[in-house]
Amino acid sequence: MRLDVLYGAQQLGSGDVQGRVVAVIDVLRASTTIAVALANGARTVIPLESPEDVVTRSKQFERAGVLLAGERRMLKMDGFDLGNSPAEHTRETVEGKTVLLTTTNGTHALLGVQGARDVVVASYVNMSAVSAMLRAALRGGADVTIVCAGQDRQFALEDAACAGRYVYQITKRLQQTELNDAALAASLIDRKYGDNLMRLFSTAAHGRALAAAGFEGDLAACAAVDSYPVIPIFQDRQITKLGPERER
Ligand code: MLT
Repeated sequence: MRLDVLYGAQQLGSGDVQGRVVAVIDVLRASTTIAVALANGARTVIPLESPEDVVTRSKQFERAGVLLAGERRMLKMDGFDLGNSPAEHTRETVEGKTVLLTTTNGTHALLGVQGARDVVVASYVNMSAVSAMLRAALRGGADVTIVCAGQDRQFALEDAACAGRYVYQITKRLQQTELNDAALAASLIDRKYGDNLMRLFSTAAHGRALAAAGFEGDLAACAAVDSYPVIPIFQDRQITKLGPERER
């Protein structure tokens, strides 16, 4: 069995994820926000490439049943209902709704994963739930790839650290797992920062940018390990939560 980490969706080549179980991480903030929205009862989250795609797609829904959400340069677009802040995706706002989401890196990375057996959205807030699913897949003989969305298509420290924590959780006592060098590097980054996620976020460029833009509260929300124990599965172009109504 293999467990590979890829930094940046641009590293994805055909064959990298073919038939594999894939986890996509964009800790700050898309993968956290998706977990929060689903945990708070959103019917589904549909990732889309651009704000224009969100507007076009929204026309296929009753206006009351859909939320236009996302960010560019961290901020909500004009005319959208929600930004990409997990704090906005409350139960009162998202319950029963379809969330159409576009973000700079996270949704782009998700849309870049083609041909995987399963795709799951991973972050710190759903660490134990998603780790258990990935560990079961690995034990069952599947190869697993963790895709770090990164920042502006480049390496992002917070995604690498989170990937490292997943590597640790998934491979505990599974000695036969082969790791690529990127997975080994992610483990080292997790060892350096994993016990103080606020220090991690205040070191990482995107964490500093979010704080400077007034989103410090989001950093704490994104650091709350296991606060939203959902398993978001991306299938048929939409993300829904694994549960009694959607078994694997
Ligand atoms: C992204 O997808 O690039 C991010 O989630 C950006 C953000 O809103 O912090």
